[in-house]
Amino acid sequence: MSMAASTAAAVAVPEVSLRSGDARPMPMVGMGTAQFPVVNEATRNAVLAAIEVGFRHFDTAFLYGTEEPLGEAAAEAIRRGLVRSREDLFVTSKLWCTQNHPHLVLPSLRETLKNLQMEYVDLYLIHWPVCIKPGPPKFPNKKEDAVPVDFEGVWRAMEECQRLGLARAIGVSNFTTKHLDRVLAVATIPPAVNQVELNPAWQQRTLRAYCADRGIHVAAYSPLGGQNWDGQGNAVLDSEVLAEIAKARGKTVAQVALRWIHEQGVTSIAKSYNKERLKQNLEIFDWELTEEDRLKISQIPQRKVVQATSLFSEEGEFTSVDPEEMNIAEE
Ligand SMILES: NC(=O)c1ccc[n+]([C@@H]2O[C@H](COP(=O)([O-])OP(=O)(O)OC[C@H]3O[C@@H](n4cnc5c(N)ncnc54)[C@H](OP(=O)(O)O)[C@@H]3O)[C@@H](O)[C@H]2O)c1
Repeated sequence: MSMAASTAAAVAVPEVSLRSGDARPMPMVGMGTAQFPVVNEATRNAVLAAIEVGFRHFDTAFLYGTEEPLGEAAAEAIRRGLVRSREDLFVTSKLWCTQNHPHLVLPSLRETLKNLQMEYVDLYLIHWPVCIKPGPPKFPNKKEDAVPVDFEGVWRAMEECQRLGLARAIGVSNFTTKHLDRVLAVATIPPAVNQVELNPAWQQRTLRAYCADRGIHVAAYSPLGGQNWDGQGNAVLDSEVLAEIAKARGKTVAQVALRWIHEQGVTSIAKSYNKERLKQNLEIFDWELTEEDRLKISQIPQRKVVQATSLFSEEGEFTSVDPEEMNIAEE
């Protein structure tokens, strides 16, 4: 993998070349778009603000309902001349669990492209190593609607999406080393990216080492600790260790977290719909953490927030799938 800096944006964001496909290099800081409930206008305005301050990489998913406003904002940015063309942007979307069936992969990507009003995505990811009976996304899902994932069949269909040029690169999300083993065993085109929960409070050392050995680039979701997804607060933004480091460096806690992720060679996709915070999240390239900072961060207690079983209601039973297969936490 090679890294180069983009010059077109207001801030020069380093980029990483992905191994597979003819994907545009991925800017190593992107913008997450997940916000529930979805308000199209808020997403559109936030994406335009992000483009203005220098973001070129955007993360969406069929599940989030933000594909349409993201596509509208991208079209508007091109009309206004904020970017020259679609090629200046890097757009990721994801196949939802109810679409995680071999025959539904290609039609689902076509639906995503229609929502985005784009001819291709730069990166298409299997959202989870979880398969739910086909149907519209809903929360929570019934445990009895979970079915085993056909890793080989789904990955073949993902490869077809890349061959057709509808996805410039393909990858996975929330996969552990065990899930990746299953994909790599059958892949003709290996996954370019694994997008996982990763931040100073969930550092993913095992997975990072595994991916580095196999040329799979790691992207960090919930890089700032997430949006209180489990109701237990935020282990990153509320960390005293990070607050101390931030104070000493004259930076914010968010910047310390994003800088630490960058120094691990990982791409981050923090979500902010606030222009000042968006700007702040890009200002991490002209300073460094010290050895002592890194040591303190390496000792932060670890806690995983997002769990696969949280997609399902408390009631009912898993009848056709072993919940252990869905375990996405790995020390
Ligand atoms: N693949 C997956 O399964 C998966 C799962 C979760 C998320 N994701 C993706 O990853 C993206 C990011 O993860 P996330 O949304 O879970 O959480 P996150 O990016 O860790 O945190 C976002 C929260 O931090 C706030 N924030 C942003 N910048 C800040 C700053 N500089 N200072 C203080 N607060 C700041 C945001 O609020 P404001 O908007 O008010 O700034 C928001 O509440 C998502 O949007 C989505 O695209 C993927």
